[in-house]
Amino acid sequence: MGKSKNAKQNREGLAELTKAFAEPEYIRKQSYAIATVESLIRQYEQQKGTKHKVINSVSERIKTAASAAEKLERKGYEISYEQAVQRLNDLAGVRIVCSFRDEVYQVAKYLIEHPQLTIIKTKDYIKKPKASGYQSVHLIVSMPYPYGEEGETVRAEIQIRTVAMNYWAKLDHQLCYKQEKSTPQETEQVRKELLSYAQEIAKIDKKMLALRKKIEAM
Ligand code: GTP
Ligand code: MG
Repeated sequence: MGKSKNAKQNREGLAELTKAFAEPEYIRKQSYAIATVESLIRQYEQQKGTKHKVINSVSERIKTAASAAEKLERKGYEISYEQAVQRLNDLAGVRIVCSFRDEVYQVAKYLIEHPQLTIIKTKDYIKKPKASGYQSVHLIVSMPYPYGEEGETVRAEIQIRTVAMNYWAKLDHQLCYKQEKSTPQETEQVRKELLSYAQEIAKIDKKMLALRKKIEAM
């Protein structure tokens, strides 16, 4: 009985989120956070003016209602709009893909020091990769929202990684979707392989940086 009550609450929670996330004011607010970060990145790129492309790509997304509901449930929170805006730091998300490892830190430093952003949290999964092998630098930032009520702010999650880290994360994400059908042994095997590939990719990334430095010194 408890379970079916839960299922009903989850359905209602998802319906509430779906409706709230479609509100123009909500979309405007999340879009503002994304656009602000994107604009700062473009400024960085212009100022830097290096020969090679430092920023490979910038992509963004507003979290879907289904994904927000899944995350709230996973973290043990009630599925509601109020909990979503209070608990989730990644309703607005921006991913910045750089060419080289050192550039990830240069971009992170620029954003951390920028007066327009307040840093809520930084997570260095390059220095300390996740158990899966996942690598990236994450910044949770907050900024004033000028179109809302006095003192209103909006948050965003910024993921900064190299092309190689992005390649791994994309394939990891795709492969792990299919894991539901596998046995625990198969899952464990896949997990181990993915971890070892993440480690190999990190080695190549370091070699590429060393090579760039060698070329710069020529
Ligand atoms: P989520 O609930 O997964 O969003 O995690 P979190 O908010 O507790 O923070 P965390 O820093 O662990 O992860 C945030 C985001 O990083 C995720 O939503 C993914 O986009 C990415 N990420 C984290 N771990 C992995 C991983 O093992 N593989 C891949 N492909 N992406 C990951
Ligand atoms: Mg997330």
